Amino acid sequence: MTEPDIKKGLAGVVVDTTAISKVNPETNSLLYRGYPVQELAATQSFEAVAYLLWHGELPTREELAAFRLTERQHRALSPAVKDAIDRLPLDSHPMDEVRTAVSVIGAIETAGIANVLDAVGTPEQNQERSLTLFAALPAIVSYGQRRRRGLAPVEPRDDLDYAANFLWLTFGEEPDPVVVDAFNRSMILYAEHSFNASTFTARVITSTLSDLYSAVVGAIGALKGPLHGGANEAVMHIFDEIGTADQVEGWLDAALAEKRKIMGFGHRVYKRGDSRVPTMKAALDSLIAHYDRPEVGELYDKLESEFVGRKGIYPNLDYPSGPAYNLIGFDTLTFTPLFVAARITGWTAHIVEQQASNALIRPLSLYDGPDERHIDEYEPDT
Ligand code: CMC
Repeated sequence: MTEPDIKKGLAGVVVDTTAISKVNPETNSLLYRGYPVQELAATQSFEAVAYLLWHGELPTREELAAFRLTERQHRALSPAVKDAIDRLPLDSHPMDEVRTAVSVIGAIETAGIANVLDAVGTPEQNQERSLTLFAALPAIVSYGQRRRRGLAPVEPRDDLDYAANFLWLTFGEEPDPVVVDAFNRSMILYAEHSFNASTFTARVITSTLSDLYSAVVGAIGALKGPLHGGANEAVMHIFDEIGTADQVEGWLDAALAEKRKIMGFGHRVYKRGDSRVPTMKAALDSLIAHYDRPEVGELYDKLESEFVGRKGIYPNLDYPSGPAYNLIGFDTLTFTPLFVAARITGWTAHIVEQQASNALIRPLSLYDGPDERHIDEYEPDT
């Protein structure tokens, strides 16, 4: 029998089709439903991009107004969710907080479904569930940050768009338009990226005909890891460790000697640079100018040029977004939950797509454990 060709980490394996986004490492481009992500980030609100990912087309003015109205109606957290978060230790990781909150929402929203065959929900129900999670996530993330800082929660504002309301909820003051714009861009850039690890996790869970909330909870777990979404948090730890641009070379010598992975660099698909980085770097530059923090840019540029020069491995989106979120004022541990708030759009678009043409995802493995043996050979006393 010939040995099967194992693709460790499923690298290079095409497992299905998708109409949601196209990653092209050859042309260094990323399209959402056909539109280049840079064009969307420069011109659209995150709400319009969410609509595009879910419905396949950008909304008309009327559709966007109706979408925004519904989103605003679902921004506030229920007492059950607040209570669940309040019961967690103050030093729980915010990703665990978000995962728990989504799980609680799922248990409430699917209560009364007596037959597991109905758990999966109709496409319409799942569109609604997606929108309500999208609307609630800013309040979940900001509730956690304010709780850790010993601050009272802030109620959502109906007169603010998604990005501005998110910042309002977190900081309790009306945000500057420069900050809103940079934050809105980051949400759009993080929204969707084809069959990445967390999206694939969501699709695997969905393929068993489990419900949308379970798929999102699983996706959050996958995103937490530092090889995936956790990298934006990890980038900031590295920046804190290095301190200033003049420390970069010595720090990098030691890190590479220890064979450390430099967080925020490298990508499974893009080998010549991540298509989202220039747009996010421009957003970071606008924040650096706004907050007058040139030393952040100096450290960013120095680490990038040193690492790319030595290893030929390019920054990914997490590299500029980490320091950008830090400048805005988010706690470092909150960076990956911000990624959740953005990626909920892509995850749920993929969940609905998977449901529409489902096949149970169940690959094979090559067994390399002990040969067959029998229980009468087992001697517990030796
Ligand atoms: N620092 C140091 N070496 C690296 C890095 C890095 N960031 N990335 C890749 N390499 C090296 C790696 O050590 C390996 O070297 P060798 O062949 O000598 O063993 C080679 O490059 C290939 O790396 P790999 O890890 O086998 O490649 P992959 O396609 O499995 O990895 C990756 C992709 C993202 C896991 C990896 O680049 C990495 O760990 N990066 C750091 C974490 C990170 O920034 N993750 C965010 C990914 S993008 C956005 C997102 O999903 O959130």
